[in-house]
Amino acid sequence: MGVLNAPSVRSRFATFAIYIFAAVAAIVIAGDAFSQNLSLGKRTWEGKADCPRCHAWSGLGGVGEDDRAPQGANLRETVMDRAALEEVIKCGLPGTEMPFFSRLAWTDDDHRCFGMTRAEAGNLVPFKAERNLIQREIDALLDYMFAKVVGRGEISREECEEYFSPGSERCRLYRTAAEIAAAAG
Ligand code: HEC
Repeated sequence: MGVLNAPSVRSRFATFAIYIFAAVAAIVIAGDAFSQNLSLGKRTWEGKADCPRCHAWSGLGGVGEDDRAPQGANLRETVMDRAALEEVIKCGLPGTEMPFFSRLAWTDDDHRCFGMTRAEAGNLVPFKAERNLIQREIDALLDYMFAKVVGRGEISREECEEYFSPGSERCRLYRTAAEIAAAAG
């Protein structure tokens, strides 16, 4: 009886093993949630919001995937932080062809956009995008942009193949990461 009641080495080990298991599980689940968020982010970027139409697949801007669409800014080199990017995505950029993606943006009683009402912004109010994004999509899009677009420097072949597919024809024009590093010396 005494043996069963005493905190045995065995039960301590079992407790310890449960802690380790829980910690590893938490890390695996968090990592998986992040990659799921990145995949929602990419789907939002290239699918639902179609940012590449004006900003190119890579975010480089200039002539995008649709050469008749407005030429978007270079998002790889943007100096905006996450909060500023979020506001631009939700509200568009007043006076430019950057459209707004939030259903609530520029509604008359809403002061969320650059501190202005629709009336105050007047004819600077940007166009409405073809599709609205919900907050979860915008959060995932921002995660994606900070992981894969903003501050990434020269586009590498590897980056292009990750976006399209390994060996993709259209990625041949980019230097490999090794070539870029060698040229940077
Ligand atoms: C219809 C074309 C169009 C679409 C679609 C579009 N943009 Fe833009 N975007 C622009 C243009 C044009 C500008 C440049 C505005 C200016 O400064 O003249 C711009 C500017 C921006 C800027 C400001 C960057 C800076 O540093 O000044 C951000 C951020 C941005 N776009 C993000 C996005 C994201 C994210 C998406 C997809 C959700 C998107 N845009 C979709 C046209 C577009």
